[in-house]
Amino acid sequence: MSKKYDVIVIGGGPGGYPAAIRAAQNGMNVACIDAWENYDGSHAFGGTCLNAGCIPSKALLESSELWHRAEHEFAAHGIGTGKLKLDLAAMQKRKAGIVQQLTGGIGALFKSNKVTGLVGHGKLLAGRKVEFTPKDGGDTQTLEADHVVLASGSAPVELGAVPFDGETIVDSWGALEFESVPKRLGVIGAGVIGLELGSVWSRLGAEVVMLEAMEDFLWMADHDIAKAAQRQFKKQGLDIRLGTKVTGTESGKSGVTLVFEEKGEEQRLEFDKVIVSVGRRPYTEGLLADDTGVELDEKGFVKVDEECRTGVSGIYAVGDCVRGPMLAHKATEEGVMAADLIAGKVAEVNYNAIPSVIYTAPEVAWVGRTEAEVKESGRPYKTGSFQFAANGRAKAMEQTAGLVKMVSASDDDELLGVHIVGPMAGELIGELVLAMEFSASTEDIQRTVHAHPTLSESVHEAALAVDGRAIHAINR
Ligand code: FAD
Ligand code: NAI
Repeated sequence: MSKKYDVIVIGGGPGGYPAAIRAAQNGMNVACIDAWENYDGSHAFGGTCLNAGCIPSKALLESSELWHRAEHEFAAHGIGTGKLKLDLAAMQKRKAGIVQQLTGGIGALFKSNKVTGLVGHGKLLAGRKVEFTPKDGGDTQTLEADHVVLASGSAPVELGAVPFDGETIVDSWGALEFESVPKRLGVIGAGVIGLELGSVWSRLGAEVVMLEAMEDFLWMADHDIAKAAQRQFKKQGLDIRLGTKVTGTESGKSGVTLVFEEKGEEQRLEFDKVIVSVGRRPYTEGLLADDTGVELDEKGFVKVDEECRTGVSGIYAVGDCVRGPMLAHKATEEGVMAADLIAGKVAEVNYNAIPSVIYTAPEVAWVGRTEAEVKESGRPYKTGSFQFAANGRAKAMEQTAGLVKMVSASDDDELLGVHIVGPMAGELIGELVLAMEFSASTEDIQRTVHAHPTLSESVHEAALAVDGRAIHAINR
């Protein structure tokens, strides 16, 4: 007889594992099937985010930022260091240790919540059955469930003209594993991954050239923020070439030569390593039998409604394999929502208040709509901004680049979007996500006491500036 669960989750990343935990908290009998495989063939729960994405990238961003500050900022604080010595192996070991601790922690969470973790491949069959093929070579089993949550995640997009070779031309995972700092690093795509990983290796000494197809830098961000960020990245030595089209590769004496068009002219540049970071695509290979009734859209995402229900009763899909931003926190909230809906509880994800953070220095973070989007909607609006250069804490931190910008409605003062480039922007945005979740007005933020001296005072001042009432800036 096949084993029956209340809920089976396929995928153990930030979409899948929280769905499994919440379903178990709701009193259900749950299994979570995950097929992640590390370079050494080992398995760990946590998906892309914990194993090869959010966590290892932030570990290296932190280490490389410390290196950069020691090299370039310590002197201003009156701290002399002598010659700095880079031990990349130790830096990589620290990163691996953090990944191991966090992925290992999921096993402990499963145990305490009584979730059955199954390591291997899961395939949805018709009639809410799941075929499970264990990684350890055991027999394939057919499991049954009342509900199934699909959380199979995403994979990097490969460029036909620049195929991955796992050595010189790598994806983001490969770029987290370099054993030495490449002298010349090419990055195709100046999006989130390009900027974060380009920053890591640039800080550690690589000459970084980024080839970006779009004419506008960070086209998805507010224009003023993108402009300010671009200025900072340029100052840091990132050579970002906009409006370029990579057409092919030639193997060089060492490394690889990229052939690309820039301003109508063919160009060539030789690199020791090339990172291709031109987006990710939904990963659904081997996930669905032909007769499940679960549909994919034209881009390969599993089709779902606002509540992550597929068209088939009892089957949900969450995270990177469905529409919406490919972000870990979005995946998690969808997974938790699906588990609560399965238990008959009220649950929703507020898709208007999902924060985006780029962990460069300065960080870039936003929530809600950009000024251009609000303008396009036709709703009358007002804006206010405040520069970190006038913030005491930012000065103390020697990190005064950037600004906070707020957009709110002219009629009822509703907060429509907040955009930050500056120190700890990713932490500062939390207050604004909460504000939007509670449908706050700018006045609510104006009337909220912010501790002095903190970076959050810049948020306060930007809110005041919306109505021309900033205290520490000249109101225009
Ligand atoms: P995944 O994390 O991809 O997990 C899916 C899991 O399902 C994997 O373990 C996979 O092996 C498994 N699986 C797939 N198919 C099957 C199957 N048929 N059977 C069994 N198992 C299966 N997001 C942020 O919010 N913040 C960040 O700072 C951030 N940094 C990133 C940095 C990098 C370099 C990258 C690449 C991504 C980053 N992201 C970040 C994005 C984030 O990693 C994803 O949005 C998130 O991992 C999506 O979660 P998920 O559970 O949908 O998918
Ligand atoms: P992205 O969508 O952020 O950026 C891709 C960039 O490549 C875009 O600027 C695009 O215009 C450009 N591009 C596309 N095709 C190109 C081509 N042929 N030549 C040159 N440029 C080209 O995607 P990215 O950086 O690969 O990241 C994938 C996903 O991972 C993102 O959706 C992001 O949400 C997530 N992620 C999130 C992070 C965070 O939250 N801090 C960090 C890293 C990744």
